Amino acid sequence: MSRKKICRIGVLTSGGDAPGMNAAIRSVVRTAIYNNLEVAGVIRGYSGLINKQFMSMQSHSVSKIISQGGTILKSSRCPEFRDREMRKIAYENLREACIDALVVIGGDGSFRGANLLYKEHGYPVVGIPGTIDNDIYGTDFTIGFDTAINTAVSAVDKLRDTADSHNIIFFVEVMGRDSGFIALNTAIATGAEATLVPEVHTDIDKLCSYMELDRRKNKTSGIIIVAEGEDGGGAIEVAEKVKTRLPNYEMRVTTLGHIQRGGSPSCNDRVLASILGHEAVNALIQGRFGVMVGQMQNQTVYTPFDEACSRHNEINKNWHEISRILSL
Ligand code: ADP
Ligand code: F6P
Repeated sequence: MSRKKICRIGVLTSGGDAPGMNAAIRSVVRTAIYNNLEVAGVIRGYSGLINKQFMSMQSHSVSKIISQGGTILKSSRCPEFRDREMRKIAYENLREACIDALVVIGGDGSFRGANLLYKEHGYPVVGIPGTIDNDIYGTDFTIGFDTAINTAVSAVDKLRDTADSHNIIFFVEVMGRDSGFIALNTAIATGAEATLVPEVHTDIDKLCSYMELDRRKNKTSGIIIVAEGEDGGGAIEVAEKVKTRLPNYEMRVTTLGHIQRGGSPSCNDRVLASILGHEAVNALIQGRFGVMVGQMQNQTVYTPFDEACSRHNEINKNWHEISRILSL
């Protein structure tokens, strides 16, 4: 049976927003128009599919958004989409709106939903990796990661000033969900004294011995980068444990939080998003469905959703050791 010709595509952003998502939307819209396709923006990710929140997009709809953080289409976490019946409604709404194919910009959770839409209904979907966490298999970098680490680095540089002025040890919590990419890159770039990431077992006694060693070498302050979720909680829990062992140290905890998700995207994120948006539309035109489009070693790579969802981008654990060596 021949497949229906693609005349109109949809685009949505899902999961946690990431700087560069707007640049990806712009690229999808402009590449589609270049190829004589119509474009519908879906508002609030999978919620918009279920609630028929569609809007026609023209070239001017995406003017001047390349430098803006967030997503003009808005994003959401949509638990209902895990329900097969709701995905059927989403599919029917897409058909009713004459949307023949879909570009999903999001993280691995979003791709799990996209994969089910593709498999259950044979609906053409292509994914673009957009998350600050950089944890997605099939691309060297995800859209938003570069901006997020630059935001984190600039915040930690500022904390370093106060740490030095007041002889304080700062425990700085960064995001990343289950992945240590943001923590490790931020630590290396700020010369942090220690880094705690989920991929490497945390030994509080060893951390304390590092801190005592640093003090003996006349280091009067320090930065310890803690990935969220570390040691069952995060920086607060780690700092409390250290405090019981080193009660005389002055310590503070700072959680960088959602500032890491905001702001104008970096040059790298704008370029990556622009290329991936373009390649995602090309993939749909070429009939490559059920895949995520990524960039590896400057080449466009198509990874089946099954693989992109079941595997993870891994940190280089040697970098953890290197980070410590360089802060001696
Ligand atoms: P991210 O895409 O950034 O990883 P989430 O994990 O929150 O973010 O996933 C975004 C959305 O994708 C969810 O709110 C849900 O709508 C959809 N989703 C996630 N996992 C599944 C799943 N197993 N089945 C169907 N939909 C899912
Ligand atoms: O996936 C992006 C991310 O910012 C993670 O780093 C973090 O764990 C999570 O989203 C936070 O999500 P929320 O904003 O829903 O609390």
